Amino acid sequence: TPPPFPSYRSFLNLSFLSLFLSLFFLAFLASHSYSPLLRLRTALQTHTIPPSRAGNGGASLRIRPGYSSYNAYIERQLNKTLNPKLRKIWTTRDWDRKIRVFARFFQSLKQRNLIFNYSKALSIGARVGQEVAAMKLVGVSDSVGIDLVPCPPLVMKGDFHAQPFENQTFDFEFEFSNVFDHALYPWKFVGEIERTLKHGGVCVLHVAVLRRADKYSANDLYSVQPLVELFKESELLEVSKVDAFGLDTEVVFRKKKKKIENS
Ligand SMILES: *[C@@H]1O[C@H](CO)[C@@H](O)[C@H](O)[C@H]1NC(C)=O
Ligand SMILES: *[C@@H]1O[C@H](CO)[C@@H](O)[C@H](O)[C@H]1NC(C)=O
Ligand SMILES: *[C@@H]1O[C@H](CO)[C@@H](O)[C@H](O)[C@H]1NC(C)=O
Repeated sequence: TPPPFPSYRSFLNLSFLSLFLSLFFLAFLASHSYSPLLRLRTALQTHTIPPSRAGNGGASLRIRPGYSSYNAYIERQLNKTLNPKLRKIWTTRDWDRKIRVFARFFQSLKQRNLIFNYSKALSIGARVGQEVAAMKLVGVSDSVGIDLVPCPPLVMKGDFHAQPFENQTFDFEFEFSNVFDHALYPWKFVGEIERTLKHGGVCVLHVAVLRRADKYSANDLYSVQPLVELFKESELLEVSKVDAFGLDTEVVFRKKKKKIENS
């Protein structure tokens, strides 16, 4: 007759088996961590990256680790934007110098017929509004900026991960100030640009491809290829070298014209 209870020995075997299974399960969980950041990094690394060009172990766009949550990220960005010393510099010593340089960039974009006096323009991550002021200076009067910290009247409050505008609002969107690399979710950053641009509208980004950006950055870009892949509804018009306050590359996209439904 079989023993009424499992023998001591088979009991031991069973506990080893369940211990083994739990460890296996834990290892599985660890390797498939559902931390959003990790998922994000994995998604980006598997999808946007031509390893041949990166020269850094595989990724040409990397989300920096270390942000435990979206709030932690926002706090870090605010830490820079609210820094009184920096704000003082931005609004005094920096003001004229930057506006002169930005105005030259806008003149050049006008000469290339990428922006017009009548364009409705948005500066993304505008800080204290130097770019908006430059835009108005060259004659594009319907210009505004967004930033986490508003700076009226040129800059209104807005997160570039969730722009406070309706679809197809702008003819022209741009960031010249070390902004793309502050995006924690680059595809949201780009998705929002494509959402609020009109069809045929133009987006100009100044980015750092050749050198590393600052310690407030949330991602690092190693080539323009990840950008091209993120701008799904746009065509790449131009890539050129610039010397723009630490940023070295100008990338121009145009949102595709609306498809004409022929059915
Ligand atoms: C910014 O961070 C520094 C240390 O990294 C801290 O001392 C300071 O209080 C922070 N400032 C703000 C506005 O959060
Ligand atoms: C655009 O505005 C600028 C500055 O106000 C002005 O000098 C220029 O003539 C305008 N261009 C056109 C084509 O109207
Ligand atoms: C705005 O654009 C988004 C993304 O392109 C789309 O999902 C949404 O339905 C649009 N909203 C309206 C009101 O058209």
